[in-house]
Amino acid sequence: MTKYVIEGGNPLYGNIEISGAKNAAVAILPAALLVDGPCRIENIPQISDVTLILQILRELGASVRTINRTTVEIDCSSVRNQPVPYELARKIRASYYLIGALLGRFGKAEVPPPGGCDLGGRPIDQHIKGFVAMGAQVEVQGGMIRARAKEGRLTGGPVYLDMVSVGATMNIMLSAVRAAGNTVIENAAKEPHIVDLANFLNSMGADIMGAGTDVIKIRGVDRLHGGSYSIIPDQIEAGTYMAAVTAAGGEVLIRNVIPKHLDCITAKLAEMGAEIEEHDDAVLVRRTGPIHRTNIKTMPYPGFPTDMQAQIAAALCLAQGTSVITEGVWDNRYRYVDELRRMGAQIQVDGKVAVIEGVDHLTGAPVRACDLRAGAAMIIAGLAARGRTEVDHIYHIERGYEDIVRKLSAVGADIRLVHEPDEETQKTPQVG
Ligand code: EPZ
Repeated sequence: MTKYVIEGGNPLYGNIEISGAKNAAVAILPAALLVDGPCRIENIPQISDVTLILQILRELGASVRTINRTTVEIDCSSVRNQPVPYELARKIRASYYLIGALLGRFGKAEVPPPGGCDLGGRPIDQHIKGFVAMGAQVEVQGGMIRARAKEGRLTGGPVYLDMVSVGATMNIMLSAVRAAGNTVIENAAKEPHIVDLANFLNSMGADIMGAGTDVIKIRGVDRLHGGSYSIIPDQIEAGTYMAAVTAAGGEVLIRNVIPKHLDCITAKLAEMGAEIEEHDDAVLVRRTGPIHRTNIKTMPYPGFPTDMQAQIAAALCLAQGTSVITEGVWDNRYRYVDELRRMGAQIQVDGKVAVIEGVDHLTGAPVRACDLRAGAAMIIAGLAARGRTEVDHIYHIERGYEDIVRKLSAVGADIRLVHEPDEETQKTPQVG
């Protein structure tokens, strides 16, 4: 078993460099399937979700060349249209982008239903609604989602999303860029990674307007050409370290960020007593006084991101007074609360609302990373707690945070990656 062992109580001082955005990378890499010719993609985060997508692209016949630690060149010229391997696709949520990308390229896609963090029901009906509006037939058969354009190529059309969905907005964009005619997505999501995907596709010859607003217009083109593109910095990774400094105290310069993307997070942390200075591509976070209570409701961008909910909750456990969090996106994103309670947190959950009574201190304990952001919250709580915290199930964290142990150690955290033999392995006698 592999786990993180944290000795809490050290304030954090120094610099942290933010990696490329996970939720942009996991859409932009499949988007390379739509491009005729090599595309060079820079600022790719080194996380296991990215490794998996690159592995899937290779299985489909793409040439993937590593240029350096954060840059790959992908050439999908000789990709074959074949079913996406079940064992790989089911491990990540973002495998759903392969449906849009393969449909857009070949007019046909066969992809297993996606996996990813367990946050309650995660339907993809809005993605399918979009494909159908563009003339696809979609069915689930033998554990595979099978989508096929009736005329061999999708035809653009109007798509109205019933709810704001990041995945549906990006997937419909992917399927529409090479469709015949125009597609208009209404009630589109506006997250920075949506703009990033549109910028990537436009730099390869697509014609997308309005990304970042709730109406996106896509004029279909016959082909996309190769090119070079750099992925935006990860807003949530940056926010996670900002929350860590707020919880543990100290002063850290968080570099390679777009401060505008952090506005909603910065505003809340400032309410909580952090001092935040914005620079061109960095933010300085300092917290020396007490943590103040606040209320938070998660919402689609530019609202407060659901992907920061657990990390902020960890910091609010140590605030003076009572804070209320309302989860506005997912049905079940409080599974981490039981783990924080093991550290002495006082949190009551009723449906989508969590009430946190601030306590004087948390005490280190063995805890589990229930999902990616819940895992980040455990680390934040561990950094701020008295004594030793051991976080297991860390594969969830490695899906989305590049080098988290190295980045935190560099600012003075006492955190180590520890490998322990499984109990089962220990019990099994070694033979021959
Ligand atoms: C993306 O998930 C992110 N994942 C999530 O990040 C993030 O929490 C979420 O967007 C919201 O920001 C990736 O980008 C890979 P949605 P996605 O479609 O696209 C409902 C993280 O921690 N809905 O915006 O799956 C849905 O149930 C992860 O990095 C439908 O009902 O989210 C939810 O309540 C976790 N039908 C809401 O909409 C649909 O067809 C928003 O989901 C689609 C969504």
